[in-house]
Amino acid sequence: MKCRICETECKMFLDLGRQPIANNFLTRDQFDSEVFYHLGVYFCPACMTVQHRDCPVCSDVFNSTYPFFTGTSQAMIKHFAELAEMIKEKYLPADGSIMELGSNDGTFLEHFKDRDHMGFDPSESVNRIARAKGLSIFSQGFEKFPVGDSGRWQGTTDVFVSANTFAHIPDRHGVLRNIKRMMSVKGVWINEEPYLRSIIDKLAYDQFYNEHVFYTSIVSMRNVLKMHDLEIIDFELLPTHGGSIRYFIGHKKAERNEKIEDAIEREGLNSFEVFDCFGKDVEQRAKRFRQQLVDLKQPIVGYGAAAKSTTVLNYCDIGPDIISKIYDTTPEKQGKFSPGKHIPVVAYSQFAKDDTQDVVLFVWNHGKEIYDKERNRPRNWILPVAQGGAI
Ligand code: TMP
Ligand code: ZN
Repeated sequence: MKCRICETECKMFLDLGRQPIANNFLTRDQFDSEVFYHLGVYFCPACMTVQHRDCPVCSDVFNSTYPFFTGTSQAMIKHFAELAEMIKEKYLPADGSIMELGSNDGTFLEHFKDRDHMGFDPSESVNRIARAKGLSIFSQGFEKFPVGDSGRWQGTTDVFVSANTFAHIPDRHGVLRNIKRMMSVKGVWINEEPYLRSIIDKLAYDQFYNEHVFYTSIVSMRNVLKMHDLEIIDFELLPTHGGSIRYFIGHKKAERNEKIEDAIEREGLNSFEVFDCFGKDVEQRAKRFRQQLVDLKQPIVGYGAAAKSTTVLNYCDIGPDIISKIYDTTPEKQGKFSPGKHIPVVAYSQFAKDDTQDVVLFVWNHGKEIYDKERNRPRNWILPVAQGGAI
């Protein structure tokens, strides 16, 4: 495949096989019409971007039934409240303007509802909730926003925020063109995404699924930003989503940023060999995980029907004969079946009555919150990713 960023030929390092749409929880009558695609993960040797080749059309993924709501996790509510506080203190002038790419149910942007703000999201299911909170939402992706030539949008936005959004948008250049045109002179774009270095260190291959197109490393981010005269000013590592990175991005300055260049050196994600080793380790890990479950024998249940679980279940070929059900707190998923493998999703309220010992913690990234919530009932928690992955 040709790289979406620089059109160089890319190399595949992980083949996750035939996969369904990761968040497409189904009813029984939808089984026969389910859509599948091939999930391969590729590395571009020129700009070092990691990406998928195939990505299902946007409207198959982000539409009126998109079932991921940020506000279902207490930890994420707290995370965004803290981010909002920091932005108010350090980055947003009193009369400044803020935009969020991928505003979801407004969990973050509601902190700015009395300020000049705008959210962008193509999924109407989440937009309905955000608008009910009094927020202004543009019902399409940010890359589609017509900036135009009038002064209204040119260089007038002080803060852009995106959390787990930039990686989802195939038209990366479209996003960057709009950011470049709309960002004020001293403006900042705060962008957080799962960090490729953490994915590799934790063998967290379950982060690879169709909603993402790209996986971020500092080196690939530096390279693509440079094409739009933007640069990473600073970054910090975060525990969210099993290990994320938060970039602070601004207009490009003349001088070289030593902190970023040193970080790229330490990161070590600029050669195919690193990714090739990772791909082989994932294959072994997945085989061991499946065998571990088969050896335990039934009953085994799952906890958290996250998009991530779809990659694991389909790659490891685990169906209801191995995991009988998955408990989940999201009403939109309950009573439905998991994509591809059709494991029933059951309301979390039933979990307390289930005394199954062996529980696969698909949402290991929320491990801390969950171990705390479930501490009164000891279970044998099984992680699909490398041991030590839970945080
Ligand atoms: P995420 O890992 O992509 O944030 O997805 C979280 C999913 O896990 C979502 O469907 C809600 C579910 N969930 C639970 O069922 N129980 C929990 O305690 C948490 C934190 C999430
Ligand atoms: Zn490239």
